[in-house]
Amino acid sequence: MADHRTAMLEKLADLDAEHAKAVAGGGEKYAGRHHARGKLLPRERIELLVDEGSAFLELSPLAGWGSDFTVGASVVTGIGVVEGVECLITANDPTVKGGASNPWTVRKIFRAAQIAEENGLPTISLVESGGADLPTQKEIFIPGGKLFRDLTRASARKEPTIALVFGNSTAGGAYVPGMSDYTVMVKEQAKVFLGGPPLVKMATGEESDDESLGGAEMHARTSGLADYLAEDELDAIRIGRRIVARLNWQKATAAPSAYAEPDEDPDSLLDLIPADLKEPFDPREVIRRLCDGVSPTNGAVFDEFKPLYGTSLVTGWAKLHGRPIGILANAQGVLFSEEAQKATQFVQLANQTDTPLLFLHNTTGYMVGKEYEQGGIIKHGAMMINAISNSTVPHLTVIMGASYGAGNYGMNGRAYDPRFLFTWPSAKSAVMGPAQLAGVLSIVARAAAEGRGQEYDEEADAGMRAFIEASVEEQSLPFFLSGMLYDDGVIDPRDTRTVLGICLSVIENKPIVGTDRFGVFRP
Ligand code: COA
Repeated sequence: MADHRTAMLEKLADLDAEHAKAVAGGGEKYAGRHHARGKLLPRERIELLVDEGSAFLELSPLAGWGSDFTVGASVVTGIGVVEGVECLITANDPTVKGGASNPWTVRKIFRAAQIAEENGLPTISLVESGGADLPTQKEIFIPGGKLFRDLTRASARKEPTIALVFGNSTAGGAYVPGMSDYTVMVKEQAKVFLGGPPLVKMATGEESDDESLGGAEMHARTSGLADYLAEDELDAIRIGRRIVARLNWQKATAAPSAYAEPDEDPDSLLDLIPADLKEPFDPREVIRRLCDGVSPTNGAVFDEFKPLYGTSLVTGWAKLHGRPIGILANAQGVLFSEEAQKATQFVQLANQTDTPLLFLHNTTGYMVGKEYEQGGIIKHGAMMINAISNSTVPHLTVIMGASYGAGNYGMNGRAYDPRFLFTWPSAKSAVMGPAQLAGVLSIVARAAAEGRGQEYDEEADAGMRAFIEASVEEQSLPFFLSGMLYDDGVIDPRDTRTVLGICLSVIENKPIVGTDRFGVFRP
C-alpha cells in the first residue's frame, strides 16, 4: 500500500542521514587533514582490503547514537571477504578524536570479537588509534583489557589474528599488534610503544624519539614485533591479503548449489509493513519475499509446520540463498500457551536436523489475564525460553515490528545471543508499550496514595504520564536501541535477504550441530 511505502521511505531517509554521520567520522576538517597526510580513511582501507566486488557487512554502524560521542564510535567493524575468506574486520577511525576508544568503541569491538568467536572467523585489525579516550578512561580502562584477552583466545582457537598498523598504537593499544598472530607495520607511519617520548622522559628521564621507541623499521629489524615492514598503506593491505591467502582456510560446510530468487519481489516489503504497529500483517508474505523461490532443488517456498495450531505464531521450513532454515514468525502479535508449546517443539525439531533458525519479531508479548495464567502461560512461555536458550543451532533474529515484554525473550532477543540480530526502521522494543507503561505506573501510584490515605494529584499524574510515555517511546525506537548495541544494525527491509544470506554463509565457518539437551521442561 502506498501509505506504508511512503512512511517506510521516510524512515529509511532518516536512517541514511544517521549512517552518513558514521561515514563522515570526524568531519571534513579531520578527514581532509588525514588525506593531506597521505593517509587513507578507515572505509577506504577496508574497501582495498576486501575482494573486489564483494560485499562488506558493516556491523553496529549506529553505535553511540544518542550519546555525546560521534555516531559509529570511532571504529568501523564488519565482515568482509579477503582472498575468498570471510574475515571479521575492525578499523579505527583516526579522524574521530585521533581514533581514541570511548566506552561505545569498546562495546562495539567486544561485539565484533563475539561474532568472530561464535562463527570462528579470522580477525583483521586495521590499527590507528590514540588509545583510550582519556576523559572517559574510568569506563574503559578495566573492562577494555578483554580486548587483548579476546585476541589471544581467538589465536588459541586457531582463528588467526592479523594487525595492520597504519599509525599510532600506543600504551594498551600496543597490545593489539602485540597479541596478534601476524603484524604488518607501515614505514614511517606506525608508532607502537608502551609510552611515547614525553612519558618516557617523565618515567626514566631518558631522551628518545618516536622512531627509535616504536617505529616500523625498529620493530621489523630490532624488536621483532613487526613481522612485515610495508612500504606504504597499499603495501600493508597487499601483505595483509597475502597472509590471508596462506591461512589454508576451510569452511565447515560446503557452499550450496544454485537457488532461485524469491517468487515475490523483496521491494514490495515496503508496501507490506504498516506504519502503525497495531495493524497486523501476515508474516508469510514477508517469508515469500525473503526466502528462495520454487526451483528444481526447492519444491516449495515455505513448508508450514502445525499451520492449524497456535496460529498467531507461524513456524515452518524454507531455504535462503540455498541454505535450509527453520522460521518462527509472529502473526497476530500475542503469544498464547499453544504458540509457546508449538515453538518449543519446533526448536527441538530444528536441533534434531541441525537446521539454523530465523526469528521474525512482531509481538506484544505473552497473553495476560486470569484464564491464561490459570492455563499455564508462564510455564509454557518458560518452555519456549528454555528451548531457545539451550538450542545450539545458529539463530538469526530480525525485529520487524513490535518486540515487547517476554515476547522479546521467547523470540530470541538480544539477551539470548542470536548469532546476528538486525532491526527494521519500523521496529519498537520495550518492556511494554509506552501508554501501557505510563498507565501501569499511574495505577500503582494511585493505589499507593490511597493506601497512605492521601488525595491523588490528578494534574501531576497527567504530567507524569505524558513524560513517561514520551521518553519510553523515544527509548523503544531503533536508532536509540542500535546506539546501545542492542542490535547489529538497522537495515532496509529490502536488504534483509542479502544480509541474512551473508550471515548464513558466515555461520558455515563452524559446524552446525543441534542439541538434544534442554533444561527441564514443565509441560
Ligand atoms: N583521548 C581523548 N582525545 C584524544 C585522544 C585521547 N587518547 N587522542 C587524541 N585526542 C583528541 C585530541 O585532543 C584532538 O581533539 P581536538 O581536535 O578536539 O582538539 C583530536 O583527538 C585529534 O588529535 P590530534 O592530536 O590533533 O590528532 P593527530 O592525528 O595529530 O594525532 C594522536 C593523533 C593519537 C597521535 C595524538 O592525538 C596522541 O598522541 N594522542 C594521545 C595518545 C596517548 O598517549 N594515549 C594514551 C593511551 S592510553
